[in-house]
Amino acid sequence: MCGIVGYIGKNSVKDILLDGLSELEYRGYDSAGIAVLQDSNFSIYKAVGKLENLKNKTKEFHPKGFSIGIGHTRWATHGKPTELNAHPHIGENSYVVHNGIIENYQELKQRLSTEGVHFLSQTDTEVIVHLFESHLKRLKSPLEAFRAALDELHGAYAILLITKSAPDTIFFAKNGSPMLIGLGKDEKHFASSDTPLIGLCKDVIYLYDGENGYLTSDAIEVFSKSYEKITPVHKALPTSKLSAQKEGYRFFMEKEIYEQSQVISDTLMGRLSKDTILFEELDEKLFEGINEIKLCACGTSYHSALAASYLFERFAKIRCSVEIASEFRYKEPMMSKDTLFVVISQSGETADTLETLKMAQAAGLKTLVICNVDNSSMVRAADASILTRAGIEKGVASTKAFATQMVVFWMLSLYLAKLRSSLTSAQLAEQILLLREIPATVVVSDDLHEKIRRLSKRYLHGHGFFFIGRDVFYPLALEGALKLKEISYLHAEGYPSGEMKHGPIALADPELFTIALMPVNLLYDKTKSNVEELSARDSTICAISAVAFDKADDFIQIKEHKHYMHEFFEMMVVLQLFSLEISVRLGNDVDMPRNLAKSVTVE
Ligand code: M6R
Repeated sequence: MCGIVGYIGKNSVKDILLDGLSELEYRGYDSAGIAVLQDSNFSIYKAVGKLENLKNKTKEFHPKGFSIGIGHTRWATHGKPTELNAHPHIGENSYVVHNGIIENYQELKQRLSTEGVHFLSQTDTEVIVHLFESHLKRLKSPLEAFRAALDELHGAYAILLITKSAPDTIFFAKNGSPMLIGLGKDEKHFASSDTPLIGLCKDVIYLYDGENGYLTSDAIEVFSKSYEKITPVHKALPTSKLSAQKEGYRFFMEKEIYEQSQVISDTLMGRLSKDTILFEELDEKLFEGINEIKLCACGTSYHSALAASYLFERFAKIRCSVEIASEFRYKEPMMSKDTLFVVISQSGETADTLETLKMAQAAGLKTLVICNVDNSSMVRAADASILTRAGIEKGVASTKAFATQMVVFWMLSLYLAKLRSSLTSAQLAEQILLLREIPATVVVSDDLHEKIRRLSKRYLHGHGFFFIGRDVFYPLALEGALKLKEISYLHAEGYPSGEMKHGPIALADPELFTIALMPVNLLYDKTKSNVEELSARDSTICAISAVAFDKADDFIQIKEHKHYMHEFFEMMVVLQLFSLEISVRLGNDVDMPRNLAKSVTVE
């Protein structure tokens, strides 16, 4: 949800800022902007839409020598995606970029307006720079003024501010939105994630909530929320960016679908023995006194949690409930200490999910996070974490992160089954053999991809899609529908197969497309009856199954498997490719669909 970068040094500031922003563009692409301060002069460029537009605008801008700069790529929250609302935001002599939401911006704006400040944008961010300058008039010290401004801000933020009153300094603050400092040779950087820094820096400093300070070419000063000096910890940064490139695929999403076999192998690696699941990162004490698991997440991660709830109850015989994080936050939930609170997040930064984690901790619950990003806010906050090892996921539509979450959940349900003696050693050994076979089930064959590509042309219109399934195939149906919605902009819903007759079947006609998940190893006959009911009402049916179904208009055949979870994983790939190919035919931007962002760090 917005990406920010900053730079201090002698190298090409424009290219460094723009390259950094292009690595962060998945976080928001409504507009982008940079501000460079050199020899006490500001150069400022902003453009609406994709970063390409900003690149075109800055073609003739070639700053040389020492400079400082900040940049921003925006996912609009307050105010439309216009140039005036694009960051950096200007005061009289200062610029600011911000990721997050300033919750009390309206009252600050009102007060500053009575002081004679004229606001140019509709954003919450603009108050930061005016607040700073208002305090600067009174306090004279830029650092004191920056701190006074921070003291008045409520909400989530990662902020970078540059000012002519300290022309070699970048002021920064982090609270609830991600930001880190990169340490290069004779230069320093800021970024919202570590990807833009790979290749530029060997070491980084991950900032924690409440931390703030300033950088100059010679100094890194980091302070706590109460402005006590902190000695920051330097951490090594990976050196290869290769895995973040497209490697010949048309889109990151496509590459990430094809990568699933490999990242699932990585996720399993070192965690399986003959009849035991090994999670080195977990202490068994975490589960002492635990009688219930509560899973909490958003979007795709919520779907993996919902599917996991079936596995926890079935294999580990433990009560399991699932919550949508944005709902859980305000429902005044009952939380009891014999519940293990588990949050699931690809990014580890989703604001709603992060907040529920904090709520659970405040209520004294033990917490666990299943996450794809080490050192993310959730990983740092939770009592324990399991990393999904999917690698950097760039497509806004999550694919390989979901796959690895499901693998971790399957393993965790077996880990708990062992602790709770709810499965025998023989049953565990059998399940572990099945786990070992998942990488093979998700390999994309040319035939399957080609079949789906050809079929996709029949599904570009209609008045809607129903993805239906039972048991774990219901959350998979939800996920299939979400994938299609996100990148095709077609209306789609996921539904439990048995629920269609309670209302939605009224919509059935040839222009209603039913995508039916029909696993042979789980409730096949029940699902078949539900699909027949839809077929009888002339809905167009696309069946996904290992066995042909004579009432289907279209049929995508998966391989024969011995367990329904293998059918789950292969169908997952089918649904991902189905959305991808429809989106391609519709000419949409697959990796950066409209109105979305990869990491949703606002509520
Ligand atoms: O990073 P998270 O897993 O916490 O993100 C949650 C959702 O925003 C995310 O899964 C979203 O639904 C994806 N774009 C779905 O493809």
